[in-house]
Amino acid sequence: MRDSCMLPFTKEQIATTGEYCEKRSSPLPASILEQIKFTDQLHKDEVVMAPSESQCAWLMRFTQALRPKRILELGTFTGVSALVFYEATKEAQAEIVSMDMSETYLQYAQDAFRRYGAEHQIKTVKGPCLEMLPTLTGQFDLIYIDAAEEEYESYTRYILDHKLLSPHGVILVDDVLLEGLVVDPSIAKNFPEEIREPYLAIADKMDAFNRYAAKEPRVTTTMIPLFNGITQIMWK
Ligand SMILES: C[S@@+](CC[C@H](N)C(=O)[O-])C[C@H]1O[C@@H](n2cnc3c(N)ncnc32)[C@H](O)[C@@H]1O
Repeated sequence: MRDSCMLPFTKEQIATTGEYCEKRSSPLPASILEQIKFTDQLHKDEVVMAPSESQCAWLMRFTQALRPKRILELGTFTGVSALVFYEATKEAQAEIVSMDMSETYLQYAQDAFRRYGAEHQIKTVKGPCLEMLPTLTGQFDLIYIDAAEEEYESYTRYILDHKLLSPHGVILVDDVLLEGLVVDPSIAKNFPEEIREPYLAIADKMDAFNRYAAKEPRVTTTMIPLFNGITQIMWK
């Protein structure tokens, strides 16, 4: 039987394989590549929050296939994934709502949305997600959860309780494997000492979310060992 997870690569082989896949995929729109480049100039602790080119490519094609009319993103950061949603739904003019509590990051993102003519399609909401979610009305066909990992369960419960997800909609939750720490906490030994404990604490919360999502009776949940771990949630 085949392994259901990743191939047994070293860190260097993972990087080479990523480049191999990127070169053999259709090119991404310039707006996304340029905003990834912009993000790469930030501090190294911030750079890791942005998706890779491969993840952007996958997310863009997934969104195109889903044909959403309304998209909600929790966690805008510099706007890379919001631009992915924009590029994927430009013709259909989907409405994109993206939320973040950082004034600085929202400024970077809004500058980019203006630069690429996306500001009419992407609405930003400033504030903590748990405070701002109740300000939303209507339903969303695609919801991308990528903000505070320790709040993932509360976001999901709120979305389901208040039917923010449309009947055939999809929730994608990013980073659910948390660098593998949810599966094997000993991976923390590869991290700088000062961030080991905080990461392990988040891993416990993420593991609790993963257990909750698998048992949530209203939805089907699929954890995919892709990138840093993606979970796909849909109504039953
Ligand atoms: C992983 S980044 C999002 C990356 C972005 N989706 C992308 O793909 O380019 C997480 C973002 O969530 C924001 N964030 C963290 N906790 C939050 C909270 N409780 N409410 C709102 N935003 C939050 C951070 O400011 C950060 O910009």
